[in-house]
Amino acid sequence: FLFCVFQSQSEDLRNLNLSGHVGFDSLPDQLVNKSTTQGFCFNILCVGETGVGKSTLMDTLFNTKFEGDPATHNEPGVRLKARSYELQESNVRLKLTIVDTVGFGDQINKDDSYKPIVEYIDAQFEAYLQEELKIKRSLFNYHDTRIHACLYFIAPTGHSLKSLDLVTMKKLDSKVNIIPIIAKADTIAKNELHKFKSKIMSELVSNGVQIYQFPTDEETVAEINATMSVHLPFAVVGSTEEVKIGNKMAKARQYPWGIVQVENENHCDFVKLREMLIRVNMEDLREQTHSRHYELYRRCKLEEMGFKDTDPDSKPFSLQETYEAKRNEFLGELQKKEEEMRQMFVMRVKEKETELKEAEKEALLKLGHVMEEQNVPQFVDLIKTFIPFYLSS
Ligand code: GTP
Ligand code: MG
Repeated sequence: FLFCVFQSQSEDLRNLNLSGHVGFDSLPDQLVNKSTTQGFCFNILCVGETGVGKSTLMDTLFNTKFEGDPATHNEPGVRLKARSYELQESNVRLKLTIVDTVGFGDQINKDDSYKPIVEYIDAQFEAYLQEELKIKRSLFNYHDTRIHACLYFIAPTGHSLKSLDLVTMKKLDSKVNIIPIIAKADTIAKNELHKFKSKIMSELVSNGVQIYQFPTDEETVAEINATMSVHLPFAVVGSTEEVKIGNKMAKARQYPWGIVQVENENHCDFVKLREMLIRVNMEDLREQTHSRHYELYRRCKLEEMGFKDTDPDSKPFSLQETYEAKRNEFLGELQKKEEEMRQMFVMRVKEKETELKEAEKEALLKLGHVMEEQNVPQFVDLIKTFIPFYLSS
């Protein structure tokens, strides 16, 4: 009987036909309107050596000029610089944050180069977690600074990945969606580029580096995402300079021997990157950040704090039970500490008392000797009556 009741509660959903228009089919539109009013935010982290072309690519991607002075090559360490901008296209507002690694790859010892990056990403997760744990939360208008996409700029060596690249990507892959790109791809010959790409991919696989997988579970984007994955890492060229090609102006880099067009798919993968990062998967990148990377951070952090979902017998264990268990544990420890402190205090007082008595006895003995020398017998007798008292106590 119980089984039947359970079944009917969980599965017995009946299909009914509506005999007229109700209106809940407007829910998707309501959602769109709400999101549009609220605006969106998207945060990109650009990891790459100084001068590899990070700022130029960002300017090219978003068709604007973001501020950003070139970095020097003599930074003592790696630091991260974040800048936020408010962009608008049609009626969609986008709060975009671009985070740059300053000084990456410039130090002789590069062992700790990944650390400031990991710390930055974690700090954004932590800020979000703290907001979530507040009693008065305001996640609705919270400026989410968690990194949604990490563009990893690979120098166009045509050779292989540097160990700094592998170490950094390995440290970041569980925290952020990594999209590897070959920067300044116009500096590599076409046949070399093909080999370079497959070398990079095989190195990433053999080192177990997880890069962002373009989603193929949704029908509308499955095909384009599957075809684009083949072209990873995207070999990109950045330029904000407009050159006249035919009768149109196009973004390009001009050389004495010819012109490299940024948006020409025969010249580079810029269009593919823009398609994947902005036009097709921006929402998926935001979602993955929340449901995979942040979730992992949150889980580890809460477990570290002693919270768990089940007790040792695998029975559900609520947050309140954890809190109460922790509170009792804390109170028990506090009582133990208090008792220890009390014992310590009593011992100290006793020690001090003995020390004082010792000192007093010595003073009396000294006084006795002085009185004997000064020949004051009545005092000597008086002192002698005290001495046995001290000797006995
Ligand atoms: P820092 O912020 O100083 O670390 O540099 P960055 O990575 O932002 O590089 P930036 O975009 O300032 O470009 C550095 C130089 O490389 C500039 O002279 C750019 O014109 C040039 N550059 C940028 N993108 C490309 C590219 O795709 N191909 C070539 N050949 N040069 C490029
Ligand atoms: Mg720059």
